[in-house]
Amino acid sequence: MTDQMTPIDRAKYASAYCAADFVKDGMRVGLGTGSTASWLVRRLGARVKNEGLRIIAVPTSTRTAQLAHEVGINVVSLDEARWLDLTIDGADEFDAELTLIKGGGGALLHEKIVATASDQMIVITDPAKEVNALGAFPLPVEVIPFGWQASKALIEEILASMDVLDRQTRLRMNGDAPYVTDEGNYILDLALGRIGNARQLSLVLNQVPGVVENGLFVDIADQVIIGHPDGAVELR
Ligand code: 5RP
Repeated sequence: MTDQMTPIDRAKYASAYCAADFVKDGMRVGLGTGSTASWLVRRLGARVKNEGLRIIAVPTSTRTAQLAHEVGINVVSLDEARWLDLTIDGADEFDAELTLIKGGGGALLHEKIVATASDQMIVITDPAKEVNALGAFPLPVEVIPFGWQASKALIEEILASMDVLDRQTRLRMNGDAPYVTDEGNYILDLALGRIGNARQLSLVLNQVPGVVENGLFVDIADQVIIGHPDGAVELR
């Protein structure tokens, strides 16, 4: 299968395949969202089928839930699981402190809730997502639809005093209509170029009325597994 894949997909596959080995029988596992996480879900499905692995899984999006069902993984809600042993998810960027930008796939709210309800979070990624400074990838911020333009204006005002390089904000679209999250919210993508203080920015953004959550994951990830196109993996 890996012969027909792009180098980036082979790298994602390698990290996901390695991470799946961290899942042990009887665990309660959070399943991330995105193309890397979908390799993980497929691999766990294969382990359920071939090895009789028994897990209880909490998906972070309807897309992941659907795939998990398809591959035979037992899916429950976070409220049913209550607490998780491990969450494995992708990221859009990560730095040396394992601070992440997530939400490129629009699932940041459920992803953050699930990851913070877990004893451990492992990030699965390809090497291109590693950065010296976060911010080249636009930071997703989930806002409720009511008054979203007022929330956007307040965010722009706040960004003026933040340690960032650029300050462009735009509503994420899905064709001609706003992109809508699993919770029925909108996403503002903030093109910031470079984020000087991720912890401060995350705290300040979440103070804005209408903001539900932002895609900065500070002090949440415990480990990163970087896959490479040749199948090698690095654990940090
Ligand atoms: C979804 C996410 C994803 O983990 C992130 O976008 C990485 O996606 P991919 O594995 O497809 O590169 O945060 O909200």
